[in-house]
Amino acid sequence: MNPAQPFLSDIQEIRRRARQHIEKGAVTEGYKADLQTVLRVLNEALATELVCVLRYKRHHFMATGLNAQSVADEFAQHATEEQGHADLLAGRITQLGGEPNFNPEGLLMRSHSEYKEGSSLVDMIKEDLVAERIAVESYSEIIRFLGENDPTSRRLMEEILAKEEEHAEDMRSLIEKLGKDAK
Ligand SMILES: [Fe+2]
Ligand SMILES: [Fe+2]
Repeated sequence: MNPAQPFLSDIQEIRRRARQHIEKGAVTEGYKADLQTVLRVLNEALATELVCVLRYKRHHFMATGLNAQSVADEFAQHATEEQGHADLLAGRITQLGGEPNFNPEGLLMRSHSEYKEGSSLVDMIKEDLVAERIAVESYSEIIRFLGENDPTSRRLMEEILAKEEEHAEDMRSLIEKLGKDAK
């Protein structure tokens, strides 16, 4: 191994390539992933988050009416966190030179999770748990797809995935708690 060049490409070569195509911003010649596919899956994740924001908002206001303040508060907190995920994804999409898709038309088609209103409090929580489990599955798949080819997007998805797992656990323990209260 050449000690002057312990790893990666020659620094001169990296500098030369960085000067080419500067209009591509963060996307360099070394970008290994299939950019169009990455942008598509990140936009699907964005749609998933937006649908989750809407569903949690609806549940928040409906639960408030059901006189279940602590559950309503939990829904509101999740809505805020999903909005934060949506913003992170939109930011990454733009950083990669793409356009975040906020179009309400087709939103549910792009989203992995569903918009289910739920008729009772337990119903709502169950629907949220299902949506979180869908997000956990599909984000895990996105992370495997990104692999070593786009570590920044992968790290972002890993950060979001960890939060969705927390959300799923929150919903599971709420169902348990409501079950105990009912006895
Ligand atoms: Fe989320
Ligand atoms: Fe979530």
